[in-house]
Amino acid sequence: MAFSARQGKKRLVKIKISKTVFDKIRTVFVCNMQKEIGWLLKEKYNDEPDNNFYADIKRLKMGEPLDYIIGFTEFLGCRIDLSRKPLVPRPETEFWLGRVLKEINGEKVLDIFSGSGCIGIAILKNTKIRLCDLVDREGGAIEQIKINCEINKIDSKRYKVIQSDVFESVRGKYDYVFANPPYIAKSRTGKIQKSVLRFEPKKALFCGKDGLFYIKKFLRDAKKHLNIGGKIYMEFSPEQKEQIEALIKKYNYMAYEFHRDQYGRWRWVMIK
Ligand SMILES: C[S@@+](CC[C@H](N)C(=O)[O-])C[C@H]1O[C@@H](n2cnc3c(N)ncnc32)[C@H](O)[C@@H]1O
Repeated sequence: MAFSARQGKKRLVKIKISKTVFDKIRTVFVCNMQKEIGWLLKEKYNDEPDNNFYADIKRLKMGEPLDYIIGFTEFLGCRIDLSRKPLVPRPETEFWLGRVLKEINGEKVLDIFSGSGCIGIAILKNTKIRLCDLVDREGGAIEQIKINCEINKIDSKRYKVIQSDVFESVRGKYDYVFANPPYIAKSRTGKIQKSVLRFEPKKALFCGKDGLFYIKKFLRDAKKHLNIGGKIYMEFSPEQKEQIEALIKKYNYMAYEFHRDQYGRWRWVMIK
């Protein structure tokens, strides 16, 4: 979880900053912020900066993630509003979900640990899946998911937003269960970017000494929520692969396949 979605995308941004504007921001202009200032100018100000632009540059300089300052990000063709400050959707998640979208067909899906709602919303927008339940424990995330379903014009008959501690208030069975749980081990705090630690929700990132607290709970109970022939797709941190494999065996799942992300690191698993 090191990169912001925009950092992961190779989109060309032309930076056109007039001399007056440049002079005004010179005091806070740091060379490695040039690309981010370009994004900001283009996406939030449509290349016409007003006074808020300079305040935003200060926010950038303080380390706030660009996506929060812009206020939204793109995720598999969906516009994901970030006004309630959920975890910023990551390019790794976009990568694996993009692959999975091509192979799923069925009736009903669960997106648990939903955060911004990016996974469930991308599924509803890009596939013929009929229904998706989106689950998170945090009130802010619940608001955010509803906002994003509306922004992306998802028919309200196609989704249900459920506030639940993991599966506690989830009653249904699903053809697919998608999960991107908090999975960072407390011991790895030092390896996480300062801006992530400072601005993104800790509850979305960390979970216990080994980062497996929710993964264990999830794998223990997910089976009960799968229809016959159903599949689970779960994201994790590369160094957790062996422990996750042991858990999959412990909970008697039938089969599983581990996959790498676009950077060659173990990142997601399909379980059935
Ligand atoms: C890693 S974020 C994933 C967000 C989003 N699915 C994504 O891929 O960008 C994990 C999410 O799990 C939620 N969460 C943390 N503990 C939870 C719990 N006990 N039950 C349900 N959701 C929880 C957090 O609020 C956060 O939104």
